[in-house]
Amino acid sequence: MQKVYIKDLSQYVDQTVSLKGWLYNKRSSGKVKFVILRDGTGLLQCVVFKGNVTPEAFEAADKLGQESSLEITGKIKIESRAPGGYEMDVTDLKLIAESVDYPITPKEHGVEFLMDKRHLWLRSQRQVAILKIRHRIVKAIRDFFDERDFTLMDAPIITPSACEGTSTLFATDYFDLGKAYLTQSGQLYAEAGAMALGKVYSFGPTFRAEKSKTRRHLTEFWMVEPEVAFNDLNDDMDLAEEFLEYIVQSVLKDRAEELRILERDTTKLEAVKRPFPRISYDEAVEILHKNGIDFEYGNDLGGTDETVVSNQFDRPVMVHRYPSEVKAFYMKRDPENPKLALAVDVLAPEGYGEIIGGSQREDNLDLLLERIEQHQLPQEAFEWYLDLRRFGSVPHSGFGLGIERTVAWICGLEHVRETIPFARMIYRNTP
Ligand code: 4AD
Ligand code: MG
Repeated sequence: MQKVYIKDLSQYVDQTVSLKGWLYNKRSSGKVKFVILRDGTGLLQCVVFKGNVTPEAFEAADKLGQESSLEITGKIKIESRAPGGYEMDVTDLKLIAESVDYPITPKEHGVEFLMDKRHLWLRSQRQVAILKIRHRIVKAIRDFFDERDFTLMDAPIITPSACEGTSTLFATDYFDLGKAYLTQSGQLYAEAGAMALGKVYSFGPTFRAEKSKTRRHLTEFWMVEPEVAFNDLNDDMDLAEEFLEYIVQSVLKDRAEELRILERDTTKLEAVKRPFPRISYDEAVEILHKNGIDFEYGNDLGGTDETVVSNQFDRPVMVHRYPSEVKAFYMKRDPENPKLALAVDVLAPEGYGEIIGGSQREDNLDLLLERIEQHQLPQEAFEWYLDLRRFGSVPHSGFGLGIERTVAWICGLEHVRETIPFARMIYRNTP
């Protein structure tokens, strides 16, 4: 028999169907019981009248615990007052497996409790909506690059060296070869890919032993990193704004129902249209000072600084040309002012902070060698990377977008812990 899902019920009005799923909730008033079924595609109110089913089925409906799995059969009718717009007149109901004392009840639970029960919390309507939006974001990312002739090139996870600074590396013993590290970014490998294929993107998990316990930091997160040969910093910013507009507009078009469940103010997302404002680091510092923030020129922007800057705009803002001192070793210096790096951070609106970090890369061998020394990085580990400058070096640029911060922003969530199925943070590595 063909399987029927709740999302497709409009095709089955006035027909009798069987659905399989879990008991989301139930109510009772004498001879009638209301069973809310969920199947991962939606919710359906199923009405069980005492006279319409066997006594066993009626008793089962009465006893079912929250999240019991069941098969339920009946006629589908239109009911505008029910969630989803349809209702089932139940003629049969079979228990598949019991669920007794399900720990997450409709009452309020604390976040730590819910995170401990994350494997079950995922079943809630809100978490399902977030996961569906995350999936749509990932699909938009792949579609965007695939439609523009980028080649997906995955980077290794076990690596011999740092990419984003040595203070946040997770180390592991690697047989006779000594220490290896979980990758902080696929970028250096994406650069090799760009020299082979022109336009590439890597997309995978990345790791940072971040001591920061903030609403924006995870120790394991997903990053997508395009890298393009012959792109300069301006091309990089053009790509970033087209990319973000595409992601946000795709979610608005295809995940309206999920955004509604999350009570997201979608007018804020509708504003995410090109062109995005582009300001220099110097201009960002001016904004901070005008807003009474005691910010020392030369520092990197912190979370609150980013919020103050981004609050001046209704769409993402691109801040470029940071002091090179606070940025990574591989970033090219601005030929007009060598104290600055040809870097760009894209700050999301509504206080979500940096979602993209990118730059034009240093393509000169001697300058890169100098930077590796200044940053006290082990040159041998970078010999392969230096080869990219020895054999046909070209200007090139790229960026990294953090998936979880993007999901948090688009969904309007407080904290990144809800944006990934199983979050990893300093104080959490379970379930
Ligand atoms: O700015 P980051 O460190 O840039 C890089 O890793 C570059 N190698 C990317 C590139 O040019 N190819 O990180 C990029 C993005 C940040 O803007 C943020 O969205 C996300 O990755 N990110 C984190 N997300 C969650 N938790 C953390 N601890 C994160 N650290 C960075
Ligand atoms: Mg960054």
